[in-house]
Amino acid sequence: HDMVKLGLAGYGTVGTGLARILEENGDWIARRLGKRLGITKVLVRNLDKGRAFPPGPKTTFTTSMEELVNDPEIDIVVELMGGIEAPYQLIRSALEKGKPVVTANKALLAERGPELFALANRQELGLYYEASVAGGIPIVETLKQSLAGNKIKTLTGILNGTANFILSEMTATGMDFTDALGLAQDKGYAEADPELDIEGMDAAHKLCLLIRLAHGQDYPLHDLPVQGITGMHPFDIEMARDFGYRIKLLAQVKDRSGHLQAGVFPALIKEDHILAKVDGPYNAILLDGNAVGPIMLYGQGAGDLPTGSAVLADIMALARKTAPNNTGFIEESLPKAQILAPEQT
Ligand code: NAP
Ligand code: HSE
Repeated sequence: HDMVKLGLAGYGTVGTGLARILEENGDWIARRLGKRLGITKVLVRNLDKGRAFPPGPKTTFTTSMEELVNDPEIDIVVELMGGIEAPYQLIRSALEKGKPVVTANKALLAERGPELFALANRQELGLYYEASVAGGIPIVETLKQSLAGNKIKTLTGILNGTANFILSEMTATGMDFTDALGLAQDKGYAEADPELDIEGMDAAHKLCLLIRLAHGQDYPLHDLPVQGITGMHPFDIEMARDFGYRIKLLAQVKDRSGHLQAGVFPALIKEDHILAKVDGPYNAILLDGNAVGPIMLYGQGAGDLPTGSAVLADIMALARKTAPNNTGFIEESLPKAQILAPEQT
């Protein structure tokens, strides 16, 4: 088999998850692609750190971003380090050097995506990001391809695994907020800065990306009303339960005659509603297309293997070398959304 060589920037939760899947499913993937996928170089901060799952003897580690992007052997750059400035520089220079990129970085794409997609389109390269929204759930591809002919009237998502895990643990076991957050961090669900999860910004990043995919409009992150779950007390959860409700952190966008009404907020959901049953690190996206009707996607929204699964799907799509279509729209840049403020509650 030919080998498609991967340069990984980041070997934490998601990078390690990807390596594990490549090890476990390598023969199966080779059968589908007619090529093997191999991690040849890995960029990390600390070369001395013990790695729970080392990527194998053919992989070299580096702390130099230049070394990774300048390596002529590397076919696809996979950005799994997180943050904004460093991954921005890395992705930009990989695209400038003619290399397609896969990333799980929703914060970066929400803030500087339009610029990077424009560069990728000019370079006729793929910049793929399935893992950046809702972990293992294939929502990016679903909106970009499978539901592309629909107008999406409403989309409601549980898009943050950490927040949902905290709320679920508090409901099921009465655990307090801080302990539940610590457990989510131990399990690898949380961002390096967990404030992004609990303050709602991570869900907001993801909602921005979904709005672009579903509506072809650029809804600026700073215009999005965002409220997180920080300070949620076991008493709040118990009170909601006593009245037959669950508290969930929702991300929502509605198309109101061409104006978009969107936000991230904790909400009371009746306990028999389908979204009330989405617990733990699971995410769900419930949407209504004007042709397809209602659809719900459900699955693990965070964690090493589910997220690695989505990263791998993008790598395999690029390895097949289909024509890139990064935003699902042919325009070079998306028009700014016609924004309608949320109703006061
Ligand atoms: P992580 O466990 O903190 O791993 C980050 C990795 O990147 C580490 O290997 C770290 O090196 C390396 N790194 C970070 N900054 C670097 C820099 N400036 N230069 C060189 N290497 C650097 O993070 P993660 O949970 O895998 O998340 C990675 C990305 O995936 C983030 O964008 C996150 O938002 C996204 N994501 C995560 C999940 C999830 O469930 N965890 C799900 C979906 C998307 P060291 O190992 O030396 O520290
Ligand atoms: N920190 C994120 C979450 C990772 O908890 O949902 C998945 O994007």
